[in-house]
Amino acid sequence: MRSIIDILDLSVEEIDSLINTACDIIENPDKYCDKCKRKKLATLFFEPSTRTRLSFEAAMYELGGNVIGFSAANNSSAAKGESVSDTVKTVSCYADIIAMRHPKEGAPMVASMAASVPVINAGDGGHNHPTQTLADLLTIYREKGSFNNLTVGLCGDLKFGRTVHSLINALSRYSGINFILISPDELKLPDYVTNNVLKKYNIPYEETTDLLEAMPKLDILYMTRVQRERFFNEQDYIRLKDSYILTPDKLDTAKQDLCIMHPLPRVNEISVAVDNDKRACYFKQVKNGKYMRMALILMLLGVE
Ligand code: CP
Repeated sequence: MRSIIDILDLSVEEIDSLINTACDIIENPDKYCDKCKRKKLATLFFEPSTRTRLSFEAAMYELGGNVIGFSAANNSSAAKGESVSDTVKTVSCYADIIAMRHPKEGAPMVASMAASVPVINAGDGGHNHPTQTLADLLTIYREKGSFNNLTVGLCGDLKFGRTVHSLINALSRYSGINFILISPDELKLPDYVTNNVLKKYNIPYEETTDLLEAMPKLDILYMTRVQRERFFNEQDYIRLKDSYILTPDKLDTAKQDLCIMHPLPRVNEISVAVDNDKRACYFKQVKNGKYMRMALILMLLGVE
């Protein structure tokens, strides 16, 4: 029994295999429509979600399985004080696999130690979001053909943006990756990511506050939302929330094959006018997330 808490729980070879499966699902959906017949996925979401929860649920339904779960902590016995461990021990009696989101960093790890079925981290606080990274990787693969030799701009809230932390971990295992970290000083990448990943593995990176200066160098521009729910002080959020707003004119100096990504939801970071640009890939990311979650469920359930 195996859980996925961090993107590094998957080897590069396993990520290749998940991408191959996802591409095959895209080409041959009928082949997969009964693969999880009589299996149940439990979605335990202690924090709000649209894409992650619904794409996990759509993924399981498209594999012929069923879904149980809750979409908010106050719809569960957590509201009465039940621990995460007791919740997942209970849910392990009903479901074959669990996808869990929780506002506390490390909660899915705790859950995986108590559960008797696989647990997938669907986002824990400002820490990690490995299945968003799977969606991001499939998007990069389909747009760029490989993960090597890319200049990746990560822009916005790099402090609390868990998708950024997981994506840096994932891409750092490929060759020729160069990061440009674009953020206000207050929202810089945490030291534990800079030291434990970028510095440790000698990954080239630069930090800047200037998106326009970085723009012409980028193969990937990964925009992120300023994470209001992680701020202690509303005034700080208000001051920082519109630090970067991507509008069509700001793309004048960008490469013609730039891939513009965002894990969504967006607030103001990308103007809707950018949606018509052929380089906008964020709704492709949404769709790719479902296929990668299908591939991951198959892998963790040991379905051929
Ligand atoms: N990208 C992402 O995690 O979106 P949701 O919060 O809507 O699940």
